[in-house]
Amino acid sequence: MTRPFLGFGLGLRTEHYTHVLQHKPDVDWFEIISENYMVPGGKPLHYLDQIRRDYPIVMHGVSMSIGSTDPLNLDYLKNLKQLIERVQPRWISDHLCWTGVNRTNSHDLLPLPYNEETIRHVVEQIKQVQDYLGQRILVENLSSYVTYKDSEMTEWDFIDEIVQRADCYLLLDINNIFVSAHNHHFDPLDYINAMDGARVMQFHLAGHSYHDDMIIDTHDHDVCDPVWSLYQVALKKFGAVSTMIERDDHIPAFPELRRELAIAEGIAARVLNPQQRKIRPAKPQSEEVIYGLTA
Ligand SMILES: [Fe+2]
Repeated sequence: MTRPFLGFGLGLRTEHYTHVLQHKPDVDWFEIISENYMVPGGKPLHYLDQIRRDYPIVMHGVSMSIGSTDPLNLDYLKNLKQLIERVQPRWISDHLCWTGVNRTNSHDLLPLPYNEETIRHVVEQIKQVQDYLGQRILVENLSSYVTYKDSEMTEWDFIDEIVQRADCYLLLDINNIFVSAHNHHFDPLDYINAMDGARVMQFHLAGHSYHDDMIIDTHDHDVCDPVWSLYQVALKKFGAVSTMIERDDHIPAFPELRRELAIAEGIAARVLNPQQRKIRPAKPQSEEVIYGLTA
């Protein structure tokens, strides 16, 4: 079993466009928010066209609404496919959620009830998307603040069942596991230990905020120590997995984010064996490098 390993990346944010172009920082890859580039012309595409010459790109969406009972939005998928053809990303991802119903967009990533009926529906939706795009996609686990009385299983069993049946990949957000574990009182290690490593293609790391007894997934702080500890556990279990830090508010100067990314690199250097640590595959012109999964 093998997976492509891109190394250590950051979310590409408008605040950093000029820094990235001028300084070509030592970052292995960037993740873009797909919707920010799904408009003809404009500054974001102008910068992305240049940055993608120097860095591998992955695309991360927030609007597919794969779990909604609405039919799939074919206009959205058409625009997404056009962007894929332009950017040539290493892979694309979106969230295992719904964002609206009856064509009303909540602009929020809403959790699903964990039951067989939902699994069947979401699997069918993912298969349709993969058929249309001609490639497997990654689905990301959410952070959540509510549960459904119709849920019949754990979140990790629900996700594992979906990725197996849909034959897709998983973008495992380590911070989201930590946030949901706190909010819903489960052990995050149970979650990580239940995941099938063959399906885990990427990690997200991020910061969060405490609001009374809840944690909100705000992406406006540094990654906290307990999330770094979980990241270490995940690396030990899954081996080398492409890792990136999401920062969407209180965005610091690029060098500061780069220093935070170095913490992830340091943990990986301690956890992974030398063969797995042969990282840095990668500028777009280079050959894809494949790494073994076993730690
Ligand atoms: Fe995430």
